[in-house]
Amino acid sequence: MTAIGDPDTVAAGVTVGVIIPAAGSGTRLGEPVPKAFVDLHGRTILEVCVAGVVDAGVATTVVVVVPADLVERARGLVPDAIVVAGGAHRSDSVRAGIDAAGSASEVLLVHDAARPLTPSAVFGRVVAAVRSGHPAVVPGLPVTDTLKQIEPRSAAGSERVVATVDRDLLRAVQTPQGFTRDALLAAHADTSGLATDDAGLAERCGIPVHVVAGDPLALKITTPWDLRIVRDIVAEPPPPVE
Ligand code: CTP
Ligand code: MG
Repeated sequence: MTAIGDPDTVAAGVTVGVIIPAAGSGTRLGEPVPKAFVDLHGRTILEVCVAGVVDAGVATTVVVVVPADLVERARGLVPDAIVVAGGAHRSDSVRAGIDAAGSASEVLLVHDAARPLTPSAVFGRVVAAVRSGHPAVVPGLPVTDTLKQIEPRSAAGSERVVATVDRDLLRAVQTPQGFTRDALLAAHADTSGLATDDAGLAERCGIPVHVVAGDPLALKITTPWDLRIVRDIVAEPPPPVE
């Protein structure tokens, strides 16, 4: 494993902080412990995620944000990371991470702990795009299902289709999402802002968001089905892509 801040591997001349929000409870997963502390064949999701970030070799600083009562446990699991307590909403946790990262990082990535198998190449593409001048960058994948827009649910709970959406113009967006420090600060300046991702907050401030190629391995563990898929991949990893 590469050390955080290894000068040979950190992108030349740019300091990159990676903030890992891991303070959610994992309600949809339904495990007895918060999602980041669920086991993946002997290591927690959090440990696998941080190891992936460190192996990507882009980070000068790694900040992990966990539930307040699990800060000490997380410090034991990921001793090379800065560990701080999160908040009620994902955006609150990201803000706690931004504060803990300090002002040293010119580029900040926000990467969900719930995407522990994200390949190094995705980190590389995101950092390269921010370095090339994009203030906000997201990895995204084309959508393969046919997508229908429905009417707001009726009182009876029935769903009626109003349109078929042009999926060629849609991307399923993943993390890490990359920002110049200024862009991420601007996105989170309005502390009432709630969104399921940080780029969504940036968009609301008028910051242009650039898409680079995501990867199916960056899938998010949300449901028991996702956990089953990720455990299967950890047990039998696919060959590395050249
Ligand atoms: N997260 C966080 N702080 C919160 C809520 C979420 O740091 N208050 C993190 C989660 O730990 C996860 C990421 O944000 O790594 C994406 O959130 P999600 O997949 O929704 O995880 P949970 O909120 O834990 O799951 P659920 O919504 O099912 O409760
Ligand atoms: Mg959530």
